[in-house]
Amino acid sequence: MVKIIRNVCHQSVLDLILDTAAKSESWHWRYPINVEFDKKHIKLDIVGPDDGRIKDPFLTGLISSVLLQVWEANNRELFIPEMIYAGVAIKDRHRKDNVHTDDDHRDDTIKILGILNKDWDPETMGGGFMHDGVVHKLRPTDFCIFDPRIPHAADDIICNKKRFALDFSVPVQPNYADGNSGGHRHPANVIV
Ligand SMILES: [Fe+2]
Repeated sequence: MVKIIRNVCHQSVLDLILDTAAKSESWHWRYPINVEFDKKHIKLDIVGPDDGRIKDPFLTGLISSVLLQVWEANNRELFIPEMIYAGVAIKDRHRKDNVHTDDDHRDDTIKILGILNKDWDPETMGGGFMHDGVVHKLRPTDFCIFDPRIPHAADDIICNKKRFALDFSVPVQPNYADGNSGGHRHPANVIV
């Protein structure tokens, strides 16, 4: 399951993140790894991957404020507001997104994702967040918290705009371990 947090922050913070990211010269085409180039999408790493190293100090400051507001809006539950990875992805109608999983090699993370575009209307533009076969319509200032080891993707985009999405990988709180699976953590299972 997925938990959606509404009205996480003021849109102006997300506007500044989008505008700053759009001007960056550090976008790359590495993801998804091990697929042909036409199936990749463009990505901007802000923190990480994997090592938590800051790639863009100004954007890291901006997105830290967003992460803390997601954490507060979620009553400081589920995750620890530290960044293992953070980045921005651009997707558009010309590439069907791949259904995938993340962080398969570990069981101590959770992911958080939100759309940055201030005028994104999931009803008319598509680009919802599909998780475990269910499409969740994210509106501006919505963020969703999800288990990255469950298959997910961006739903088809049906307009000519580019969809900017900010995503974080953060440590899951240890008390959300699932005692029925030998210690393997399924944070999404506790989400209502
Ligand atoms: Fe993912």
